[in-house]
Amino acid sequence: MPKVIFRAPDGDWAVDVPPGTPLMQAALDRDVEGIVGECGGNAMCATCHVYVPEDAADDFPPMGEAEDEMLNCTASERRPSSRLSCQLPAPEHDVLVDLPEEQ
Ligand code: FES
Repeated sequence: MPKVIFRAPDGDWAVDVPPGTPLMQAALDRDVEGIVGECGGNAMCATCHVYVPEDAADDFPPMGEAEDEMLNCTASERRPSSRLSCQLPAPEHDVLVDLPEEQ
């Protein structure tokens, strides 16, 4: 099963994730610290913010309008690599995302 690595300043979390599972849900299921997911994956809270490295950007679907708007409300700096992990289905292979300092 593919692994998703959530990279945090104080250490990495590597979790096995069935392809298609939203990364936010995978993080909550495995108690990954740093992902909150307050709205349950509806792109309405921005507490599942992650940074997707440039070489992994094509592993995920394009950003929708609701996600783009909500990313203006993140607690940590929005960057070009910012995504909402509830909108990111796990790919068929290993992938790494970075966690922001706060949600
Ligand atoms: Fe609320 Fe992703 S869980 S925006």
